[in-house]
Amino acid sequence: MSEHAAHRNEAQHPESHQKPHDGDPGLSGGTLAEDAAIGGADAAATWDERYRSKPRMWSGKPNPQLVREAGGLRPGKALDLGCGEGADAIWLAQQGWTVTAVDVSAVALDRARSHEKAALARESVHAADGAIASRITWQQADLEQWQPGNSFDLVTAQFLHSQELAWQGPLRTAASAVKPGGTLLVVGHHPDRLPPWGGAGHHHRDMFYTGDELVQELGLAGPEWQLEVQTSRERPVTGPEGQHATIADVVVRATRLP
Ligand SMILES: C[S@@+](CC[C@H](N)C(=O)[O-])C[C@H]1O[C@@H](n2cnc3c(N)ncnc32)[C@H](O)[C@@H]1O
Repeated sequence: MSEHAAHRNEAQHPESHQKPHDGDPGLSGGTLAEDAAIGGADAAATWDERYRSKPRMWSGKPNPQLVREAGGLRPGKALDLGCGEGADAIWLAQQGWTVTAVDVSAVALDRARSHEKAALARESVHAADGAIASRITWQQADLEQWQPGNSFDLVTAQFLHSQELAWQGPLRTAASAVKPGGTLLVVGHHPDRLPPWGGAGHHHRDMFYTGDELVQELGLAGPEWQLEVQTSRERPVTGPEGQHATIADVVVRATRLP
């Protein structure tokens, strides 16, 4: 896994680039209309169209902040919100987590399932006792309405940015799904350090948050939580045309107190 690996592209126009960026496949070369509003659109149809516009959107590698922040946690039940093509969920499952991975796009989830199948086939070749069973439940749902039926030892939302979705509701849902003693990990693009090739879609301020805004909105400085990490980390990335830039990830990790 490369430190440069990251995913996401929240405002990507179908023609914006030809292949997943190796440096930051999620970052957009998008050109969505500047006046498109948050919410109101059919998120499933919109994201399906974005995914269909290219055979692969993201790098296939787990997000670097996830690896860094969750790598030392004891595996249990994890929830990945806005899982995209599944690299994070697959990585978590490989670390021993039982994962529920949710995304609005059926196209992304089909890809995630097939990536998982390929990963399981590779693992099974080395397994002494034959085929390795899936540890991931893929679920298609719109996080504007969806509520988890369970609580989780880890809830992760990595770059859950979308012009069709204000961040506050889904990330409150994420926090509410963390078990006592469990971990919330939210990673997003810092609004002041967005990729220069992000296009007009990146101008939607409601898609992005600072660490302070996130902590305040979710009450993570309050008595129910121990705030473990609140930072902004710079990261070099490569754009769709091979451009280089340094962006910053907002990283917030908190433990729900028992
Ligand atoms: C920028 S991508 C990030 C994907 C993945 N977490 C990653 O880092 O590679 C945002 C993801 O959120 C999903 N998404 C957008 N709106 C959503 C909604 N309303 N409900 C559920 N998922 C949504 C998209 O389909 C997309 O896969």
